[in-house]
Amino acid sequence: MSEQDLTGAHDAWAEWLLRGRAGASAEHEARIEARVGLFVDRVLDALEPEPGQCLLDFGCGSGALGLRALQRWPDVRVVFADTSPMLMRVAGERATAMGAAARCRLLRLDADSGVASALRELADASVDAVATRSALAYVADKPAMLAEFRRVLRPGGVLSLGEPVFRDDALAACAQRRALEEVAQPAGLAAQQPQLLRLLQRWRSQQFPDTEQELARSPHCNYSERELFAWALQARFAQVHVELHIDAGPSLAPDWESFTRHTPHPFARSLRDVLDHDFAPEERALLEGVLRENWDRGAMVSVERMVYVRALRP
Ligand SMILES: C[S@@+](CC[C@H](N)C(=O)[O-])C[C@H]1O[C@@H](n2cnc3c(N)ncnc32)[C@H](O)[C@@H]1O
Repeated sequence: MSEQDLTGAHDAWAEWLLRGRAGASAEHEARIEARVGLFVDRVLDALEPEPGQCLLDFGCGSGALGLRALQRWPDVRVVFADTSPMLMRVAGERATAMGAAARCRLLRLDADSGVASALRELADASVDAVATRSALAYVADKPAMLAEFRRVLRPGGVLSLGEPVFRDDALAACAQRRALEEVAQPAGLAAQQPQLLRLLQRWRSQQFPDTEQELARSPHCNYSERELFAWALQARFAQVHVELHIDAGPSLAPDWESFTRHTPHPFARSLRDVLDHDFAPEERALLEGVLRENWDRGAMVSVERMVYVRALRP
């Protein structure tokens, strides 16, 4: 069934999560899933649910976090909540295949209803834990969402989240753009900018905002661990603990083609797409040649930033 069969509307999140992020490489997808498994375990490590307790997996996607919780704690119940009907269905089918359907509730969120009422079907103090991985990142009004998490948590309940931090990628794109503009200030000097730098910038600008205004408007790029910490306190959580994990290492892509086809988030275009559609043949040959050479000698470094927050609802 395609993403359109269920809703009549294009489901961009399902498209990205089920196919797009790994650029159609099964091996790359398996590596991403293994990596997501580590993030999800880290989020769940902050919880110690009692038998019979209820955990909300906000922005559950295809169920990576909630399914792991069902597996890890055989007496715990999970509310899977997301805006994508297709992904909710996949999460539900996977829970059923695990024999855990009776411990699950699927809660379809209305993307257009506004954050304040996003979880309106959940009563105050109705869940024991809220756990979320890479979903709050995409909510524009994070302080309001955190307040909503607090509302549905019972006193003593725990919030645990793990979110990507893309702000440094966006700041790097902004700095590079500014630097290139400054070099071009005296009229006529633009032609002297190193062409490779300009091509790198054009690629980067298709993955991350490259102006301060665009960055400020971009929910998944305009925050860091410090804002999440401040917003958690603002939402009157207690015992707020924040950890930032930064890892640099080889890309998860198994080969060059997979590298060119993957996207770091659903609002980014792949390198292949940019090369094929935005560049003239000689530009494509230059940028792809240099990047490919770096890839072949293992010099391509990928940096991953994740922030983890654990907090208590007093
Ligand atoms: C990067 S995926 C993460 C999915 C899952 N948590 C995981 O760890 O694999 C982001 C998910 O957040 C959901 N999402 C995006 N915006 C949302 C919103 N405003 N409210 C609820 N879910 C949202 C998307 O549908 C998608 O399933």
